[in-house]
Amino acid sequence: MKILVTGGAGYIGSHTCLCLLEAGHDVCVVDNLSNSKKIPLERIQALTGRHLQFYCADLTDKRGLNQIFESHSFDAVIHFAGFKAVGESVLMPLKYYQNNIAGSLALFELMEAHGVRNIVFSSSATVYGEPEKVPIKETFPVCPANPYGRTKLHIENILGDLHAADHRWNMAILRYFNPVGAHPSGMIGEDPNDAPNNLMPFISHVAVGKQTELSVYGNDYPTHDGTGVRDYIHVMDLAGGHICALEKLQENPGLLTYNLGTGQGYSVLEMITAFEKMSGQSIPYKITDRREGDIAVCYADPSLAEAELGWKAEKGIDTMCLDTWRWQSKNPDGYI
Ligand code: NAD
Ligand code: WQD
Repeated sequence: MKILVTGGAGYIGSHTCLCLLEAGHDVCVVDNLSNSKKIPLERIQALTGRHLQFYCADLTDKRGLNQIFESHSFDAVIHFAGFKAVGESVLMPLKYYQNNIAGSLALFELMEAHGVRNIVFSSSATVYGEPEKVPIKETFPVCPANPYGRTKLHIENILGDLHAADHRWNMAILRYFNPVGAHPSGMIGEDPNDAPNNLMPFISHVAVGKQTELSVYGNDYPTHDGTGVRDYIHVMDLAGGHICALEKLQENPGLLTYNLGTGQGYSVLEMITAFEKMSGQSIPYKITDRREGDIAVCYADPSLAEAELGWKAEKGIDTMCLDTWRWQSKNPDGYI
């Protein structure tokens, strides 16, 4: 299949592009490089021995995007492009609504105009907000607690309305839990522009000396060791979920929504211990106040994706830490 990948130069997109090429698909990436570089795309081509097309373009530039649609005949779109920093979205909500929603609208309009009606969309566990219980099922109420999460929910709703209006659309909404890790080669990985917001990249930045110590945001949560519990999922498992979703769309299933997680929660302290074990580095940390907006526990019930997509996360916490460390130690300053 020929797949348009928006945001394909980013963290999850680059790993998914690699898997798409390995699975024999043709890949065309559209990315404005606002939170990424071209280097991972070059490395993916070196790793797979296959070529991909790349357009440095912004989704909100509908005219430019239309030219790309006119030059290709896409079978499906995987839509990663968007801003994702929760804290920034609270400070600059319009930036998030404009980029994430206007970009998605332009994309969906062009897909419709060009008769491309298969899409896999990157949503997030953040749409659930604070769950009443765990594990979280797809049928749980959605109530995102920040503007970033609300952009994800709005886009999910737009897709739902589009499908209701025209049943020829096939859509897989994938709600990711906490993506971590890197390709086992250590050639591609997560490369945040600034100091990381998320736990794993922060730990790996401490391990290579780019940060002096980790702040553990609170040890008074109602969890077994008091620190927050999350469902960390290896980015290669996550990438594999997109390939399964694409295959599923070939059956014309309509609108589908899946949690992509492992179903297993780990605390912050467990992640630190596992990373220390797998990297051989010590991770100095201090306990600080809770981070505003954080919840105690969040992990998926991923059984629907297993039943319907035949997909299941396979890589455990040790592999997540080892692959993160291989990437970070080989590329201490990221893509340069
Ligand atoms: P990322 O920032 O590494 O990748 C997003 C890519 O989109 C970047 O390369 C960026 O340059 C590009 N982009 C942003 N706005 C664009 C625009 N208007 N036009 C063209 N390109 C644009 O993020 P990621 O971690 O790879 O996340 C991918 C998707 O998955 C995002 O939609 C994100 O919200 C979602 N998601 C991420 C996580 C996570 O923790 N990483 C969790 C759940 C969902
Ligand atoms: C994990 C745990 C923190 C950093 C975020 C987004 C969510 C989704 C995934 C996009 C929590 C603790 C963290 C640190 C810490 N992204 N922590 N010190 O908050 O579960 O989810 O990323 O959709 O929308 O909200 O992930 O990695 O930031 O935090 O103690 O320096 O680590 O309190 O318990 P989170 P995270």
